[in-house]
Amino acid sequence: MTTISVENIYKIFGRNPKRALEEVKAGKDKENLLADTGHTLGLKDISLEIEGGQTFVIMGLSGSGKSTLIRHFNRLIEPTSGDIKVGGKSVMSMSDTELLDFRRHKISMVFQRFGLLPHHTVIDNVAYGLQVQGVGKSEREDKARYWIDVVGLAGYENSYPDQLSGGMQQRVGLARALCTDPEILLMDEAFSALDPLIRREMQDQLIELQAKLNKTIIFITHDLDEALRLGNRIAILKDGVIQQVGTPQQILLEPANEYVNAFVQDINRTKVLTASLALAPANTLSSKTSVSDALSQLSTNPDHYAYVVDDEQHLLGIVDEEGLRGSTSGSIESHMRPIEGVHETDVLDEVMEQLAHSDYHLPVLDGEERLTGVLSAESTIKALTDDHGNSDGKAPSATEMAEPSKPKPAETA
Ligand SMILES: Nc1ncnc2c1ncn2[C@@H]1O[C@H](COP(=O)(O)OP(=O)(O)O)[C@@H](O)[C@H]1O
Ligand SMILES: [Mg+2]
Repeated sequence: MTTISVENIYKIFGRNPKRALEEVKAGKDKENLLADTGHTLGLKDISLEIEGGQTFVIMGLSGSGKSTLIRHFNRLIEPTSGDIKVGGKSVMSMSDTELLDFRRHKISMVFQRFGLLPHHTVIDNVAYGLQVQGVGKSEREDKARYWIDVVGLAGYENSYPDQLSGGMQQRVGLARALCTDPEILLMDEAFSALDPLIRREMQDQLIELQAKLNKTIIFITHDLDEALRLGNRIAILKDGVIQQVGTPQQILLEPANEYVNAFVQDINRTKVLTASLALAPANTLSSKTSVSDALSQLSTNPDHYAYVVDDEQHLLGIVDEEGLRGSTSGSIESHMRPIEGVHETDVLDEVMEQLAHSDYHLPVLDGEERLTGVLSAESTIKALTDDHGNSDGKAPSATEMAEPSKPKPAETA
């Protein structure tokens, strides 16, 4: 899969960017550069390694340089200095024909305002990229129909954009971007114009699609909740400068500076922290254990129950002392009751309800359905309130956990 490296990109807007660049390299900041020279610092020394097949989110407030940065990927903007390499190939040194080919086949963009052709039907909009490539009508319409179906718009092939809701129009935008089967998808605030509920649905759809497609997605947002939900990795940008790059958990648990810390303060941790961070050890018994051995072990176990596993640690069920008592022979396998586990990668928000209604600790399984531990109320609360090195040591209050909140940055750009 294609790795993208962003290498020391500087972008300065104004009449003499090269000269302004020297001042920026000598340490002048955005505000002073503008005051002294009338030049705007768009991006300062941006370097990123973006792994293929991942969703990489660039997050920052309005004016922080997000659009400027994403437009470098398909060279809608030329950097003042620096380069971007896609699979080792320099985008900045592509010839006109190479660049055209790159834009037609390898990379496509989804825009905030959908960017659909108003006088073309849904199917023509979706097939547009293939038409530009010179693909014949029946082949491109077959492919367009496929993607229209994938994004849930079957039946709307012959509608016009203005007959569709905002959410539906953005589904068309997504289908259009996917229809040329590009390796890289650029999404600049693609969901920001949508109502919160629709926006959430689109996020879910993107997560679901990406699980199958494994595209390299560069996703831009000003919303930290969205960034944390979608990103495998997140870069936080302020005034054209990267503040931190990391996984959602790193951003949340180890904010690199006061600026990032101010953003993550009010984030609902239950939506980001996964079950793997709240594990307590599980009491297990092999399925071959005899009833009498199990009874003697359970009598000294404060919970008086245990999870039954096979030789590979796969979860088979649960046995408790009461259920075993009265029978003395054979193995515990015939006395097991089924129990539903959760996965290590589930966020706590998704499993809290199940935990609240369970008589037992919730068994937690890895990708191969092996038992790796349990969630208890105590272990979950501990994970949610642990300080993890946050600078002011403030744990989220009950209300912060109960309702999703907007990031409250300490300063605005
Ligand atoms: N074409 C341009 N000419 C001059 N300044 C620009 C231009 N495009 C963007 N900028 C400036 O660069 C900075 C970053 O803008 P932008 O990338 O649009 O931010 P974002 O997408 O994060 O809101 C802002 O200060 C903006 O005013
Ligand atoms: Mg923008």
